[in-house]
Amino acid sequence: MYRKIIELMECPKCKNKFKIEEKETFKEEIISGYIGCDCGGKWEITEGVLDFGSEEQKGVNNWSEITREITFAELDRLIMKKTPQNQLQLQEKAKVFIADFIKEAKPDFIIDIATGRGMLLDKISSDLPPKTYLVCTDLSKTVLKADREKIKKKHPEAKISYIACDVTGLPFKDNSFDLVLSFFGVANMRASILPGLKETQRVLKGEGTFLNVSIVVKEESQSYKVLQENFGEKGKHFIDFVLCTGLLDFHKKSGFPRVDLKMIGESTAGKNELDLIPVEGDWFGVCLVQANKE
Ligand SMILES: C[S@@+](CC[C@H](N)C(=O)[O-])C[C@H]1O[C@@H](n2cnc3c(N)ncnc32)[C@H](O)[C@@H]1O
Ligand SMILES: [Zn+2]
Repeated sequence: MYRKIIELMECPKCKNKFKIEEKETFKEEIISGYIGCDCGGKWEITEGVLDFGSEEQKGVNNWSEITREITFAELDRLIMKKTPQNQLQLQEKAKVFIADFIKEAKPDFIIDIATGRGMLLDKISSDLPPKTYLVCTDLSKTVLKADREKIKKKHPEAKISYIACDVTGLPFKDNSFDLVLSFFGVANMRASILPGLKETQRVLKGEGTFLNVSIVVKEESQSYKVLQENFGEKGKHFIDFVLCTGLLDFHKKSGFPRVDLKMIGESTAGKNELDLIPVEGDWFGVCLVQANKE
């Protein structure tokens, strides 16, 4: 957890500045300690991860439970093996687009929304501009600890902070980040998609950019039907995020006046037993939404 990032933060309870209690540090990074506030709020940093006590998702992405049976490294290998090649290729293309954007824009502060197993993190941390600070967020402290360990070994010089928190209540001041990223992160937030996007908008600087990678299918497809069946009445509030029109609408509703949709690539889905969608045989696209506040 980098001190420079704590300067951008505010107490989620009362909006005050934090006080830092450092126990173990390495150069600019706090490895263990606390951040606290006069209102009584106190949150712990262990193994470099700041923990706001958020609970993992139920039924999906419950990383602590999943990794009781299998290690993160094995899980990565399994997902790589079981995900159809055309899907992996489009994901890679989207990662390259984002990595190139970072190289060009050289942002001071980046936040990644719902970092998960760090597919995007792995790509962008290899080549972060020296001045850039990156913040990774996720509900799961377990997944962030694994991400930090992996990336520290590969790129010890990258200035990355890890915060376990719910993205619907980011502990940051308004207008803090030059670049906000999401790589299939927001899309996985289900009922929290809209509040999550509103927070994203709030913490983005006026002149900043939000890049959000998401999968899209057609409304008349088997994939859309599967989502309807799976989520029932509840799903009405979020499943349209998988349609191009819905994707744009959600961003506009979240307060982004400028929203552009770029199709990274499209293909026909292969067999994939790990993901609910896209269903085998369906058309699908990997989209990148570029949203701006001004
Ligand atoms: C499919 S992963 C995202 C992939 C990831 N961005 C990558 O590059 O590998 C979805 C993640 O969203 C996280 N998540 C879901 N709802 C969240 C929320 N409200 N706040 C923060 N993280 C959330 C889950 O814990 C999970 O790790
Ligand atoms: Zn407070």
